[in-house]
Amino acid sequence: MSNNEEIIAHLNECLKHEWTGVAQYSQASFIVEGVWREVYADTFLENAEESFNHAKLVGNKIVALGGVPAATRNEIKQTRDLQEILQNSLEFESKAVEMYNKALELAEGNRALVVFLENILEEEQEGVDEFTKLLRNSQATSSSSIDSKTA
Ligand SMILES: [Fe+2]
Repeated sequence: MSNNEEIIAHLNECLKHEWTGVAQYSQASFIVEGVWREVYADTFLENAEESFNHAKLVGNKIVALGGVPAATRNEIKQTRDLQEILQNSLEFESKAVEMYNKALELAEGNRALVVFLENILEEEQEGVDEFTKLLRNSQATSSSSIDSKTA
């Protein structure tokens, strides 16, 4: 496999991961219920949109490199438990960071492609940071989470 083919193949794995994100985050947005729906339905929808934006960028780049974009996705994780949704979201974003880091290794020497991938990687890392903070005290679904620190 030439380096170009290797990059295209790996970008297609990234693309499949983004399509998985579109479905997984949309589903989370649809099914989150109770009072926290007010907060998290929009949050998850925004994440679905971010995945779609990345899918657009990566799909167009694959074609520019001479490849054919994947039109499939991996299985999604779904649950009604908000804490689990947040945990799945952190796993999803961490996997994305890992995948774009690998893509960056393959892109070494191609400065424009490196910058393109770095911009996406930065947003994936922001996702990791946000979900890490949301999960930090494991109180995302509890209204008493700040009480002990406000005295
Ligand atoms: Fe993404």
